[in-house]
Amino acid sequence: MTGIIGTWEMSAQGVEKGMALLSGGASAGDAVETAIRDVEENPAFSSVGYGGLPAMDGQVYLDAGWMDGNSLRCGAVVSARGILHPVSLARGLCGRETNWMLAGEGAEAEARQRGLAMRDMRTPEAVEKWKETLHRQCAGMGDRVYRGHDTVCVIARDAKGRMVVGTSTSGLFMKQPGRVGDTPVVGSGFYCDASVGAAAATGLGEDIMRGVLSFACVQYMRSGLSPMEACRSVIRTLQETKDRLGEGQGSFSVIAMDAQGCFGAATSETDFPYVIGQNGSIQVCHAAWDRQ
Ligand code: GLY
Repeated sequence: MTGIIGTWEMSAQGVEKGMALLSGGASAGDAVETAIRDVEENPAFSSVGYGGLPAMDGQVYLDAGWMDGNSLRCGAVVSARGILHPVSLARGLCGRETNWMLAGEGAEAEARQRGLAMRDMRTPEAVEKWKETLHRQCAGMGDRVYRGHDTVCVIARDAKGRMVVGTSTSGLFMKQPGRVGDTPVVGSGFYCDASVGAAAATGLGEDIMRGVLSFACVQYMRSGLSPMEACRSVIRTLQETKDRLGEGQGSFSVIAMDAQGCFGAATSETDFPYVIGQNGSIQVCHAAWDRQ
């Protein structure tokens, strides 16, 4: 059975396009790349690609990840500027003998060499928001407390049983230049083993990396848990760790799909929308924090 799942409502249009491709016999890889590119090029989304909010220095730094669940090979782009579709570069790096993960100028040079579209990723709205926040910080007016982050993550399974996961983000608003979250980090931001299933995470990268959430979720599925049980288990375990350490409620969510095309999702948030595409229709579902 084919299927596709994406994080947040911003993935709805892309998931629909990906589902149409899968229905026509396309590969899981083409479905995932198409779905994520749709979000990356939409300036309305301030946490991914064009329109993403800048780092402290006013630049937009992009992270993306890719894993092919049949070869267990990965690709990743880290802290790169000016690449319209970092997910396409991450996909392109996956499958090579070495050099799977490229950062900064190395990633940008590779993108140019491959003829990928390059552009200034800063929209006027994003620059305005950056200036306003910088002004508030300089005036000692403090800053909003950052609780989480909205990465686009998409998992797909095609008619041949191939599975792929991809991720893309512009990272935290006002991050320190060079800061990298979970999104391009295999095991934390994404993991896929087509014989078991795949998982991907969104939220505060610093927390997600502590829990190695995506790999942990796939391991739970390997041990026999359903995707939904696996998602709930990793979220509960990480929140319990934070509770034990005396930290507050976290901001992290996970989606998963198993090798049979069943879905799962869970969150530490009060509401986490995710989008499922199967049997010709898409559905926006909601997960919520549940200690049970
Ligand atoms: N989860 C994305 C980030 O923390 O950058």
